[in-house]
Amino acid sequence: MRKKIIVTGGCGYIGSHTVIELIENGYDVLVFDNLSNSTEVSLDRIEQITGTRPAFVQLDLSDAKETNILFKLHQDAHAVIHFAAHKAVGESVLDPLKYYQNNLYALINTLSAQRENGINKFIFSSSATVYGDPDHLPVTEESELKRASSPYGNSKKIGEEILEDLTKSDLNFSAISLRYFNPIGAHASGFIGEIPSGIPNNLMPYITQTAAGVREQLLVYGNDYPTPDGTAIRDYIHVVDLAQAHVVALKRLLEQKQESPLEVFNLGTAKGYSVLEVIHSFESVTQVQLNYKLTDRRAGDIASLYAATERTEKQLGWKAQKGIDEMMRSSWEWEQYYRSQQ
Ligand code: UD1
Repeated sequence: MRKKIIVTGGCGYIGSHTVIELIENGYDVLVFDNLSNSTEVSLDRIEQITGTRPAFVQLDLSDAKETNILFKLHQDAHAVIHFAAHKAVGESVLDPLKYYQNNLYALINTLSAQRENGINKFIFSSSATVYGDPDHLPVTEESELKRASSPYGNSKKIGEEILEDLTKSDLNFSAISLRYFNPIGAHASGFIGEIPSGIPNNLMPYITQTAAGVREQLLVYGNDYPTPDGTAIRDYIHVVDLAQAHVVALKRLLEQKQESPLEVFNLGTAKGYSVLEVIHSFESVTQVQLNYKLTDRRAGDIASLYAATERTEKQLGWKAQKGIDEMMRSSWEWEQYYRSQQ
């Protein structure tokens, strides 16, 4: 019997890549998404890639009553992978309540509905942003969590705290929190990838849009950081690697025999690349020259962040496979495909 997995936010960037990996690993997927930052086209593309269209319900998880009704209808589900959340850092600073309201209500409503309906396994999309500006690198899961630099980041931190308390109080409920570093790249088919709404905030879509001529010039924020070339360093991880890590985490949860407190794992590559290294890697892989300019630091950015991955490798038994060139190539293929469809 195929195990049924509910994926909230399954039409989004990381969600849709994970749905593909779940289907390819024999799971029966049900997507809940309110389509606030995605469209049903993702489902067409998933079907095109896997030959299977996941079941879909348009649902806003911040509506507790509706959420309960839907979970009651799907009590046979074995676990929930929860991606549904707002994620624009800058917007969260301007409108914190929108972020706390949406991200935390959705989380609490999902967890309550799950427990009421006996679905006791949960995977949470967390972020490396919970580390804030760390004292030591690389960051391990035991590193102190500094004050998050945005309400978005804080909503992830509070989310983890909620899960920690819940898994302590209800020994039948188990959860894994996955702290993503900087997910980039796209599926090898070229049919799905990230679609930022409006002007991208993140580096990768800004690079591909500049290369495609949609943006005039890429600004490199800061060249006076204490790093070898002065630009900031991050741990970029291929979204397909990230998606596969969810399948590994899911298997771990489903096979778990004894009670376990919340488990937390970093999902990164343990390698840091500077902004200039990313740019040069993009240029050499794609043979497209980028129009870029060095400018002042962006408020809220830190110099360097990259993951320690020992716990993830030893305990979860998973390690990222794809390198920076593949991240660049697939991002560019996706950008070109997406533009050709407009
Ligand atoms: C941010 C969020 C993180 C979120 C991630 C999504 C914080 C602290 N981080 O990470 O939670 O998961 O986005 O991928 O809130 N850069 C440029 N020019 C640009 C855009 C970015 O130089 O046009 C630089 C930034 O200054 C940074 C690096 O590129 O040094 C990466 O930036 P970005 O892709 O926005 O990710 P983070 O800020 O690391």
